[in-house]
Amino acid sequence: MLHAAGVIEYTPRSMFSKADAYERFMGRWSRCLAPAFVAFSDVRDGDAVLDVGSGTGELAFAVRDVTSTARITGVDPAPDYVAYASQNGPDPRVRFELGDAQELPFGDATFERTLSMLVLNFVPDAARAVREMMRVTKPGGVVAAAVWDYAEGMQMLRVFWDEAVAFDPAATPRDERHMPLCTRGELASSWARQGVEDVSESGLDVALHFASFDDYWAPFLLGQGPAGAYVAALSPERQAALAQRLRTRLLGEGVDRPIDMRARAWAVKGTVPSTHATAGVPSIAATTTA
Ligand SMILES: C[S@@+](CC[C@H](N)C(=O)[O-])C[C@H]1O[C@@H](n2cnc3c(N)ncnc32)[C@H](O)[C@@H]1O
Repeated sequence: MLHAAGVIEYTPRSMFSKADAYERFMGRWSRCLAPAFVAFSDVRDGDAVLDVGSGTGELAFAVRDVTSTARITGVDPAPDYVAYASQNGPDPRVRFELGDAQELPFGDATFERTLSMLVLNFVPDAARAVREMMRVTKPGGVVAAAVWDYAEGMQMLRVFWDEAVAFDPAATPRDERHMPLCTRGELASSWARQGVEDVSESGLDVALHFASFDDYWAPFLLGQGPAGAYVAALSPERQAALAQRLRTRLLGEGVDRPIDMRARAWAVKGTVPSTHATAGVPSIAATTTA
């Protein structure tokens, strides 16, 4: 479905449905980003931490691994992801449950840290999600988020969409560079608009190492995320033609070899004001995006 502006409306429920496939496609890179985002978010031992849009659990597990007493709750609307995360490394300090960022199933002022990694750009009403993150966080606590820099810094997807759009101009609105909150300063502006204090934003860089062209390409065939959904809908012949374009772009006419890329995410953090009114977020149907 397209918005009036011609920008695609993302439908995450169908794009985020198979946990094993997500792990092969993006979870392995979330795992690389998570430690940097945890450090950026100043997570402390003893904190009650919420991971909003926890997916297959990479951020929650990263918090667990750098703390000894922090308790982490992950929440995500995708049943297969929640089941995968719950079964993957069960730990009494970590739990996962179903829920939507726009209507978090937690009481006011429950957590010291509320984090969200690679999620807010997919949430239809991200402003509402930020208000919910603030509501469930204790006054003085930290709310933080990170999103990939799809337009420039996330090379794995930048290369993919550049070639997909050149191959199929009709794919232009699907290019993830058109999603909200993904360029420098957008997250910080959103935090400030919602009244978060002491806001700071930073770029987080990770290295992506692909063992071969197939290691880069094959996960796109698994149907996860906007790029996977786009590839899954192509005929086998068009998939092969796009793969050939990408192979030439990445390897030239040369033999197969490992491929190294970089990925940048923008991360924001800030403090919930001590005077924050925690009650009274109206129902989703009654709100509009700020
Ligand atoms: C790119 S994945 C990121 C998952 C995980 N945080 C990570 O870094 O690997 C996007 C996640 O956002 C979740 N998501 C989509 N819409 C959501 C919503 N309205 N509320 C909470 N999570 C949502 C998806 O189910 C998916 O797990």
